[in-house]
Amino acid sequence: MIEPSDLILRGVGELVTNDPDRVEAGLLGIVNDAAVAICGGEVAWAGSLKELPDEFFELPDLDCGGRAVLPGFVDSHTHLVFAGERGDEFGRRLAGETYESILESGGGIQATVRATRRAVQERAAVGLVESARPRVERMLAHGTTTVEIKSGYGLDVPTELRMLEAAAALGKLIPIDTVATLLGAHVVPPEFAEDRAGYVRLVEEEMLPLLAPLARYCDVFCDRGAFTVAEARRILEAGKRYGLKPRVHAEQLAATGAALLATEVGAVSADHLDHIDAEGAAALAAAGTVATLLPAASFSMRTPQAPARLLWDAGVTVAVATDCNPGTAYVESMQFVIAVAALEMGLSPAEAVWAATRGGANALEEPAKGWIGPGAAADLVILDAPSYVHIPYRPGANLVWKVIKDGVVVVAPPDRRGVSTTRLVP
Ligand code: NIG
Ligand code: FE
Repeated sequence: MIEPSDLILRGVGELVTNDPDRVEAGLLGIVNDAAVAICGGEVAWAGSLKELPDEFFELPDLDCGGRAVLPGFVDSHTHLVFAGERGDEFGRRLAGETYESILESGGGIQATVRATRRAVQERAAVGLVESARPRVERMLAHGTTTVEIKSGYGLDVPTELRMLEAAAALGKLIPIDTVATLLGAHVVPPEFAEDRAGYVRLVEEEMLPLLAPLARYCDVFCDRGAFTVAEARRILEAGKRYGLKPRVHAEQLAATGAALLATEVGAVSADHLDHIDAEGAAALAAAGTVATLLPAASFSMRTPQAPARLLWDAGVTVAVATDCNPGTAYVESMQFVIAVAALEMGLSPAEAVWAATRGGANALEEPAKGWIGPGAAADLVILDAPSYVHIPYRPGANLVWKVIKDGVVVVAPPDRRGVSTTRLVP
């Protein structure tokens, strides 16, 4: 039986399937002159239009006019729920101050914690949802269909609770899947400056038991100026006791051994990794820990990029994500991330696109996302371009033509005074 949302995409000039069964078609499993059948919010069939089975001929059709179709982007690392902004700090960094010195003097993350606590006291969760909503809408408009959202700007139980509630609310308001991560151990809040151990205990004994039901993962910023490897280990082990799998902010500001910790605690992902070396890469590969790289953060911080080539060639599963936050990367577009990954981080355009789709899905343990084939989620991006290569080739533009979420067209171009936007004009 045909459901109202069932659909066939025809005229797909280039289909990125990411299907490992299509090894002969390269890393991205490219099919040219393709079609995709969508039934019940899932992909029912994908392949060469010439081979389209008869049973799909009756479906209503969407002509892609020669455009490229990709899996929806999976942004597996963001801090997009926050109050305020830090444009002043950005200016100070460009003038020579460092991220760490600003944090040490009570700015940086601490400034966003003050703003977020204030917003929650004044407006409860509503204020946080209102301020984050346009960011998530822009992410969707740029092709992101699944987004991870961390807490970590509350650093007390009531505010962290509101942040996690806001993450869930955004997924209900906007056609995008949200995955929540508890980052209670982002930095030590000022009221515990003289009692770090007391804050670690608070996370272990109060935050985790109360807030674990609202999150899928537990994260720790394990770095110079944040939490030590020993503190992070305690918190991540405690998180596991409450059913939260670990992920770790590791080796962003300095080489601390945090990536090794990630492998030891069975983390799903180690993130940033700007300072990882060959030994660390081998450990991640052996443990099957995903390396989530955040090229827009290093770009925005004007610091060297993570050694993506080293990680990829060591056999590590690589994901790329925005890290969207008000300090190190106020970036919402996964297209921009792909461009920086390809132009500045040493990944090929195909590797960067894979890392932004299938890599991100691996980092969030979402097997139905990040690829296009029978049984995959019908989360698709149609580019207003003939190839995925145009993403890094034309950085800075939003190349999305349409976004499909769970089989429904949720982003489409406005009609230009009756002018058809159907054919891709080369
Ligand atoms: O991933 N490094 C830690 N956390 C964020 C930055 C948060 C902030 O500066 O507000 C990051 O870069
Ligand atoms: Fe981060």
